[in-house]
Amino acid sequence: MYKPMRILAIETSCDETAAAVVENGRTVLSNVIYSQIDLHAQYGGVVPEAAARQHIETVNLCVEKALAEAQLSLADIDAFAGTLGPGLVGALLMGANTAKTLSMLTNKPFLGVNHLYGHVASNYLGSDLEPPFLCVLVSGGHTQLIRVSGYRDLEILGETLDDAVGEAYDKIARLLELPYPGGPHLDKLAQQGNPKAYPLPRAVVTHPFDFSFSGLKTATMRAYERALAELGASPSPEALLRLKTDLAASFQHTVVETLFKKTLACAEVHDIHTIAIAGGVSANRGIRQRFTGFVNEHPSYQLYLPQMEFCTDNAAMIAASAYFNPITERLDVEVFSRAMA
Ligand code: KG4
Ligand code: ZN
Repeated sequence: MYKPMRILAIETSCDETAAAVVENGRTVLSNVIYSQIDLHAQYGGVVPEAAARQHIETVNLCVEKALAEAQLSLADIDAFAGTLGPGLVGALLMGANTAKTLSMLTNKPFLGVNHLYGHVASNYLGSDLEPPFLCVLVSGGHTQLIRVSGYRDLEILGETLDDAVGEAYDKIARLLELPYPGGPHLDKLAQQGNPKAYPLPRAVVTHPFDFSFSGLKTATMRAYERALAELGASPSPEALLRLKTDLAASFQHTVVETLFKKTLACAEVHDIHTIAIAGGVSANRGIRQRFTGFVNEHPSYQLYLPQMEFCTDNAAMIAASAYFNPITERLDVEVFSRAMA
């Protein structure tokens, strides 16, 4: 009889300690995430050494919980997976070495995973998505348009030349004095604002599918300074909130339109009508609404969005990627090459 393949994966590339059990790359049996947000919030950003130490303290508990929630024991697991990179080196080691140790103890395979492939694979969880498709990867560290021609055949067609989308969100959120990490807070604020209040520039870059967000970031900062100056020395709390809300909405509108237009142009040129969005910023409501609205009116297009819990860093996506696209060495992390223009 056909035996399902159960992979227990661990993800510790940044500030989430996560463990999950996934069957055949699509069925999530458990998904445990311990977030270190409270630890890093006091510094306004991730402190790599503190992240690694916290991973050591929580990783075993996460593994135990992932097994308990899946109602399985170590003996039921067919392979162990861990993120090898990209990420914070000390943090990565904690998860990958735990997974390797479990594989040695149980005499089962260890499967290495590229974190970015993991985000792409988040769209396989609980879904029927199969290549080929165009993946819009938007996270704290990356912004890429990836052509996924096969489970193991990924090619970058465009990427940011400077800031990643999530990074730009976090920086503007900090400017507006929103809590860390700023992306989700800025997204929430933007829902109530006027997206046309502050016209912001869209960068022009040489390659049509590349992105640049640092100019937008600077323009948003300048617009904020100008508007603050206009409000005078002691603005009312209502006026200040209105300014922040409208600026958040204008920023989000510009980002969403840039992402949407470039993705669509890329999809048309490469004749790919299945689009999947991945990475922490795929949780963004503005992005989800824009792409969903478009495919609702254009039935020749298909859209896949990860469930909310699989957008930001998690181990279920690492297990899915280990099933469909394991890598053998940390060096493979670098082999995610860009397609020739
Ligand atoms: O994929 P992820 O968890 O970590 C990386 O691999 O980078 O992405 C984290 C990023 C952060 O920059 C966070 O602010 C952003 O995703 N993010 C959002 C939203 N939720 C998370 N950005 C905009 N809107 C959101 N709703
Ligand atoms: Zn990530």
